[in-house]
Amino acid sequence: MKNLTIDIKNALSFLKTDDFDKYKELTKKADSELINKTGKGNDFLGWYDLPERISLKELSEIKDCATDLRKKSDVIVVIGIGGSYLGAKAVIEALSGQFDHLKQRPGNPLILFAGQNLSEDYMVELLEFLNDKKFSLIVISKSGTTTEPAVAFRILKQELEAKIGKKDASSRIIAITDESKGALRSMANQEGYKSFIIDDNIGGRYSVLSPVGLLPIACAGFNIEEILAGARDYMNHSNSAAFNENQVYQYAAIRHVLYNQNKTCEILANFDPRLNFLAEWWKQLYGESEGKENLGIFPASVSFTTDLHSMGQYIQEGLRNIFETVISVEKPKYELTVPKDEDNFDKLNFLVGKHLDYINKMAELGTMIAHVDGRVPNIKITIPQINEYYLGQLIYFFEKACAISGYLLGINPFDQPGVEEYKRNMFALLDKPGFEEETKKIKDRLK
Ligand code: PA5
Repeated sequence: MKNLTIDIKNALSFLKTDDFDKYKELTKKADSELINKTGKGNDFLGWYDLPERISLKELSEIKDCATDLRKKSDVIVVIGIGGSYLGAKAVIEALSGQFDHLKQRPGNPLILFAGQNLSEDYMVELLEFLNDKKFSLIVISKSGTTTEPAVAFRILKQELEAKIGKKDASSRIIAITDESKGALRSMANQEGYKSFIIDDNIGGRYSVLSPVGLLPIACAGFNIEEILAGARDYMNHSNSAAFNENQVYQYAAIRHVLYNQNKTCEILANFDPRLNFLAEWWKQLYGESEGKENLGIFPASVSFTTDLHSMGQYIQEGLRNIFETVISVEKPKYELTVPKDEDNFDKLNFLVGKHLDYINKMAELGTMIAHVDGRVPNIKITIPQINEYYLGQLIYFFEKACAISGYLLGINPFDQPGVEEYKRNMFALLDKPGFEEETKKIKDRLK
């Protein structure tokens, strides 16, 4: 099987110094820190060998659970936020037909998400939609105490229990959480929910290849073994390849050099809307991992050609602090060519017989040349096609490159201390018991 490839020549041409060579050593050193567990955040390295460590027993339990839920449900609601939601959503969106959610597909439950926001309207509309459906719940929270999913779970659980009774409801609820800590673990144990464990040493944004991502993906009917095979093959490649053949090292290195040249914003671009949520997952991975100590590249994303008609202007001529990373897909799933039209009013007959994908590829090439001419360095990551195997490769590639990028930056890529700030304020504003002092302070500030 081929590996994903990376082309950095249109970024290398922007380098002001010839110190790229020194990254051969620096990336290797960062990788050794990961392997030897000597770097920052070394208690969160469970993702590193996860693709080969996940046991056959756990895998078959995940698959059995998914088969059972698929039989029982028209809809499966996955409840979680951040790393407990984005990976599954990204993979399911990338692999699903783009109009599948509008089709009746017996035996193929619809996968919906909740607990990733606090919108009252979202929840009311979801409840209305579920009203006449057979639904099941997968509730995911590593800490087991995150407010958004906890609130959503309370509401949806009560709805399910009111509909089919507490006993049957408990057979349609799966919890994915810590082995022993947190409110969700206590609830799962007490109510007898089937549950899966999120290992202590795997952070949320690195958890898509654990039950957190694999169970929802399997419930959507996709092949999780292929995803793991892609990730595993890529892991083995990236662990042994020298710098020149090592896409992980090259990506981490070129990002870091560009950042040092004031390219402080990276835009992840795709030319296929099925990859839009992969970009959301990537934004969390890189944003939450690198953005600390007043450092880090700001991760943004665009979907072309759609966004060429919105963000294209800025990328071409706005502030020159950006570089672009394009995910290019060699082969589409289906084929369609432009038909002939005798009248040719639209003057498009020069395209007759051309594949839409060929036109898209010319847009991709034309955009890259235009943006490079506009002084936006370009990194191109190519996968042969969008399927389970190559999504597995991409996931592992981005995870490892993110960890190495964090070490090159000198920060701990596995913590997220800043996320607590808003929670403290929210709890204080909501009069949460235990936050009395903060409540007083914040309310005084608002007077
Ligand atoms: O990457 C992370 O650690 C976070 O984004 C978490 O996944 C997110 O905050 C949800 O946390 P939890 O799974 O504990 O509910």
